Amino acid sequence: MSAGEEEHPHIRTSLGAIGSAIELIRSWPSRPFQAIASGEAVAAVRRFLAIYSRPDLSWDDLPFLRERTRLPILLKGILHPDDARRALDAGVDGIIVSNHGGRQVDGAVAALDALPGVAATVDGRVPVLFDSGVRTGSDVIKAMCLGAKAVLIGRPYIYGLALAGERGVREVIENLAAELDLTLGLAGCRSVAELDRAVLATASPP
Ligand SMILES: Cc1cc2nc3c(=O)[nH]c(=O)nc-3n(C[C@H](O)[C@H](O)[C@H](O)COP(=O)(O)O)c2cc1C
Repeated sequence: MSAGEEEHPHIRTSLGAIGSAIELIRSWPSRPFQAIASGEAVAAVRRFLAIYSRPDLSWDDLPFLRERTRLPILLKGILHPDDARRALDAGVDGIIVSNHGGRQVDGAVAALDALPGVAATVDGRVPVLFDSGVRTGSDVIKAMCLGAKAVLIGRPYIYGLALAGERGVREVIENLAAELDLTLGLAGCRSVAELDRAVLATASPP
């Protein structure tokens, strides 16, 4: 039994986790039967099941965490003002509005559509960060106009890493920063501090 399993012995294996485990064995470098016989693939699957995904995590774990650390706690995946309120009550230091890039629920609300409501509820008490689909400088500007203190990028830097390693990641970040700078200037703003809702044009009704 691995260390991860000892920590979370109560986790039930879901159908999704079994599917992922089968995929893991199939993509093992040796043939599936040899992989199982060697014990290595089985150990890898056990480890995966033990540490990947904690479906039993709940709001009740936040006070537990809060009591045990003075490090900042940022809660990611908030899309509803009620959840933002609940996170504030639990003493989080920041909120990340994110739908995880739409990878979890197909057709989920767009994180950008959820941002203004969450930002209004938080009302500056803690920083509101944003991710999901930030690809260009103007994406950064839109998110900041709608209440984000900063944005995060997920897949773009991984694409850069896959294409050119460290240099690729640097390129992605430098391009994004350059686009942000350019778009700020074109929008007549000297810095991100000048960004607010008034910078955005409202779409006229059809
Ligand atoms: C392969 C992959 C794995 C991810 N794993 C996690 C995770 O374990 N926890 C998490 O909060 N978000 C996870 N995410 C979501 C990202 O952190 C991010 O919220 C999402 O990709 C949206 O940002 P993006 O559109 O810039 O990629 C993952 C995303 C990808 C692509």
